Amino acid sequence: MRTQPNIIITGTPGVGKTTHCETLAQSTGLKHLSVNEVVKERGCHDGYDEELKSWIVDEDKLLDAIEDEAKQGGYIIDWHACDLFPKSWIDLVVVLRVDSEQLYDRLKSRDYPEAKLQENLDSEIMQVLLQEARDSYDEEIVVELSSNTTDDMESNVERIEGWVKQWREDNAQ
Ligand SMILES: Nc1ncnc2c1ncn2[C@@H]1O[C@H](COP(=O)(O)OP(=O)(O)OP(=O)(O)O)[C@@H](O)[C@H]1O
Ligand SMILES: [Mg+2]
Repeated sequence: MRTQPNIIITGTPGVGKTTHCETLAQSTGLKHLSVNEVVKERGCHDGYDEELKSWIVDEDKLLDAIEDEAKQGGYIIDWHACDLFPKSWIDLVVVLRVDSEQLYDRLKSRDYPEAKLQENLDSEIMQVLLQEARDSYDEEIVVELSSNTTDDMESNVERIEGWVKQWREDNAQ
């Protein structure tokens, strides 16, 4: 049994995953597990896609790379997919959502290639990540939260902190 929970913070690129994870890591003491960094640093990829400007992730290598940490618990996983992680590893799945205009501005300011920008906007409108989360985990552990404003972010962080506190109480030995 884990003595610390594992949380996934997921959503379309630009919704605010990393910002949420960094704040939560500070306040909860859970560790921010940036899948992007792991993929890059531990070589869990089959090269770089120049067109999409992203690594081609080798999911098996990725899961092998984080298995020991995940089983130990205490991680906030930061990634724009969630269906690859075994159910048994995960205690809470937070899907961040954002309005199209907001997302457009955030991605535009990153100089995203047009095709990638459009693909991500479509994916957000179609609720792809929310659906993926609901298809992959029990509905009780999937939470959808808005991430349009800094106020949203603050209330999300508070809510997740409350959840972590409760989980720790419930699972105290
Ligand atoms: N709730 C919010 N209110 C205002 N600005 C936000 C909010 N969430 C994120 N942002 C801003 O949007 C930008 C993207 O946020 P962030 O990098 O955290 O997204 P991400 O989901 O991690 O993206 P990626 O999937 O590409 O890593 C940042 O400039 C961040 O400050
Ligand atoms: Mg990020």
